[in-house]
Amino acid sequence: MDNVYVSGSILSADFACLGRVVKELCSAGVDFVHVDVMDGHFVPNLTIGPMVVSAIKSSSTVPLDVHLMMSRPSILLDSFIKAGSNRITLHAEIEEDVRSLLMQLKEKGVDTGLCLKPATPAETIIPFLDLLDQVLVMTVEPGFGGQPFRYELIDKIQEVKRLIQGKKIQIEVDGGLNDKTAPNCVKAGADILVAGNYILKSSDWHQAIMLLKGQQ
Ligand code: DX5
Ligand code: ZN
Repeated sequence: MDNVYVSGSILSADFACLGRVVKELCSAGVDFVHVDVMDGHFVPNLTIGPMVVSAIKSSSTVPLDVHLMMSRPSILLDSFIKAGSNRITLHAEIEEDVRSLLMQLKEKGVDTGLCLKPATPAETIIPFLDLLDQVLVMTVEPGFGGQPFRYELIDKIQEVKRLIQGKKIQIEVDGGLNDKTAPNCVKAGADILVAGNYILKSSDWHQAIMLLKGQQ
């Protein structure tokens, strides 16, 4: 089996102690720190901007995996790059020109991702395959951590896997992942598992990360 990576989401963290949480997540063994940027418009929640990403960067020893839930990412794309984002994932459902934004990221040497909300079909990724490092399949409605995993979306992971065959594109899955739901995603083709609540609410973060990876 190919490697399975874990991207630890800080959305469920105590934001008053963000630096410490990021350091502890890195020591516990996450492969990425997943940063959920919400603009209060694309999703009904508001989280963090480039200044906080920059602060997170200074506490992280692993790459930052930034998930932009923004209707108009063009406004802050450069700032998120300058803040130290290593990988930036845009949503396919935005009104802006996704292709030109992905090209901007590529030109700046940032890894690119395209994210699909639960109702967005897998085929949406086809016109962008030449520009993508990852496809992010949402297994909950974006906006909040701690929601239950939607099993009906496993088929979409398989469909994405089929569409990217032969290409160097990773599949990331986000929403409701734990030791019970993650193996289904890995079986369907997931390479990177995002997990917030499952890791941060457990008493042993390292063990939770290992269980997500299918290792004891
Ligand atoms: C939801 C976010 C997720 C969230 C996942 O919009 O994209 O990254 O943090 O949280 P859990 O793992 O708790 O479902
Ligand atoms: Zn996310």
